[in-house]
Amino acid sequence: MIFDRDIRHRVAVPTPTLPRPTVGAVAVNRARWGDLAAVSRLQRRAFRPALAYGFGTLIVLRALPNVRFLVARRGGAVIGCAIGDRHDGQTRVINVAVDPDARRRGVATALLRALERELPRGDLLLMVEVENLGAQALYRAEGYLPVGSAADYYGRGRGGIWMQKGRDGADDAPPKLRV
Ligand SMILES: CC(C)(COP(=O)(O)OP(=O)(O)OC[C@H]1O[C@@H](n2cnc3c(N)ncnc32)[C@H](O)[C@@H]1OP(=O)(O)O)[C@@H](O)C(=O)NCCC(=O)NCCS
Repeated sequence: MIFDRDIRHRVAVPTPTLPRPTVGAVAVNRARWGDLAAVSRLQRRAFRPALAYGFGTLIVLRALPNVRFLVARRGGAVIGCAIGDRHDGQTRVINVAVDPDARRRGVATALLRALERELPRGDLLLMVEVENLGAQALYRAEGYLPVGSAADYYGRGRGGIWMQKGRDGADDAPPKLRV
């Protein structure tokens, strides 16, 4: 995930088609305003307090036109989210979270793939904590490779790894990495 302090300087992108429902009984769709309280609870369950996006940040992200904000639902309950954007010519995955009770069933994979469809332009960039080996395994499985590091990104002694996924036929110039 990318810290909310780094989410700024928005640019407009065209409205893409809605993602397709996926993963059996799990549906992935754009977040509705009424989902945000559940996503806020999900953030607190998925991340330690310093990393969980608060309700205010989620409202801002939901409102911004260049942000794509998806949720995974099972039986009507929000069990995951994925948020990405286009920022200064770069496509970014800025947050992926799955409820602890719903992990290792392909939910994050479905969310990530749907988010990539929602953000079809350019290569993809994300940040993951050095010690978050599970998320790194997910991203590697989906074609992301490490391209840089940032010491103390997540706090003193908690480094981050930039991971990137190139996409064939991307209609942009090579991404401008800020690592
Ligand atoms: C990381 C996270 C999003 C993965 O969600 P998930 O729905 O369990 O992921 P998936 O089921 O789609 O996993 C797909 C593959 O990724 C890898 N993977 C996912 N979680 C893993 C883990 N904890 N350990 C090792 N590999 C893991 C596996 O290869 C997995 O395939 P498999 O289950 O067939 O072995 C989830 O654990 C989470 O929300 N963690 C806390 C928040 C977080 O770290 N977000 C990412 C921030 S960068």
